[in-house]
Amino acid sequence: MPRAHIVLDKQAVIAQVSRRTFGSFVEHLGRCVYTGLYEPEHPSANQDGFRMDVVELVRELGSTTIRYPGGNFVSGFRWEDSVGPREQRPVRRDLAWHSLESNQVGLDEFAAWLKLTGSELMLAVNVATRGILPALDLLEYANHPSGTALSDLRVANGTVEPHDVRMWCLGNEMDGPWQTGFMSAEDYGKIAARTAAAMKMADKDLELVVCGSSGSGMPTFGDWERTVLEHCYEHVDYVSCHAYYQEHDGDLGSFLASAIDMDFFIDTVVATADHVGYKKRSSKKINISFDEWNVWYLKEHLESAQEITEWRHAPRLLEDVYTVADAVVVGNLLMTLLKRSDRVTSASLAQLVNVIAPIVTEPGGPAWRQTTFYPFSITSRLARGEVIRPVIEAPVYETARHGEAGLVDAVATVDGDQAAIFLVNRDVAEAARVTIDVRGLGSSRVVEAVTLADADVYAKNTLAEQERVVPRANASVVLVDGVVTVELPPVSWTAITLG
Ligand code: AHR
Repeated sequence: MPRAHIVLDKQAVIAQVSRRTFGSFVEHLGRCVYTGLYEPEHPSANQDGFRMDVVELVRELGSTTIRYPGGNFVSGFRWEDSVGPREQRPVRRDLAWHSLESNQVGLDEFAAWLKLTGSELMLAVNVATRGILPALDLLEYANHPSGTALSDLRVANGTVEPHDVRMWCLGNEMDGPWQTGFMSAEDYGKIAARTAAAMKMADKDLELVVCGSSGSGMPTFGDWERTVLEHCYEHVDYVSCHAYYQEHDGDLGSFLASAIDMDFFIDTVVATADHVGYKKRSSKKINISFDEWNVWYLKEHLESAQEITEWRHAPRLLEDVYTVADAVVVGNLLMTLLKRSDRVTSASLAQLVNVIAPIVTEPGGPAWRQTTFYPFSITSRLARGEVIRPVIEAPVYETARHGEAGLVDAVATVDGDQAAIFLVNRDVAEAARVTIDVRGLGSSRVVEAVTLADADVYAKNTLAEQERVVPRANASVVLVDGVVTVELPPVSWTAITLG
């Protein structure tokens, strides 16, 4: 059995855990909003038409900041369509997803829904096909208390208190040729700078996110960030990263090591942002908003997207059903985001319901948890206080996509006398025996240990079998003389809490 040894010391602090790391994403795409969050005819719907069974699951998931309303959708969106009396809202074509948008849910309804879940709103403006004035109008409508045309309109529409949105995205994936109105880095950098500067004239404390690359494989990756930031460095606060992973051609070993790419992505963007900052002699640091990340069977989606010809409202799109292996990768990606909490201070799992999501619903039927729900919800619940840098000695294996990868990966957080340790075993065949020296944490007992694993690494939760995969107590854990010993099954994710 492969062995690994980890040393944890509470002096080795990376950063505070940022609650915004556990953000998510709701886009007007497929059934994320309609029949996902909102289904007035559903037996669990509240007076506003929101499914309370989904609200319960979102609360359990522990998602914090929620990015809205897109995604690619935002680049064709007129926000004015989605406020005011519902019967007067227009139906529009959404070119991004070749769908119809009824606008029955808009900013005010979504903000009301966020109150039910206790989450923070992160709003995207359309810089691709609109401009500075519509962005300023949306800011006035959303955040100005009252006494101006657009704030009074919000009040007249029934939302008296301003939404007070702090985080704003300046468009979405503007480097991608699939984006309606995509631009060169030069063009986008200039418009992002002017939009950001104008928005900060209204409120200097806004936190603005400029679009970085849509993935580390983009041909412009690196240059894009440099050029864009050279234009808008002083006006923005975050640069975004987006990354989706999937198993390619049966190469499970590479897939399980996807976190290596995320780490490389973060390193490169931090270096690029700091390079621009140094050149500008700026004392300011730009942090990362990793505002789309997940497993997504994108290759399969791109193939099937060619076949969509009809314009339908809330079609079934991107409804990936996740496996145990997918959940292990999601857990590992979240561990990486935590490890980079010094610079990644906000992140959004893309997405929340039905669309590449941890929560699935059936119209008129149940809502349930995908495999990926568990590592996210458990990490969100347990990761508190400070992130600790682990020293890991583990065997390595060679991957086709990411080079050498450790068989075991880990991260820990410490909050007073509570510690949480998150681990993955990437070995596709064998369990790993891990010893963790926790003398530097001062912990003396195991409070809880759960593992997500299955003899079938492709096992899934489905409508027919909603709890086929659930985390189970890991009975192998012992803590003796300051050393935790634990057995991690092959392809598994584990969380251990110490007191
Ligand atoms: O999350 C799905 C899509 O992925 C988003 O709309 C887009 O930003 C990205 O390409």
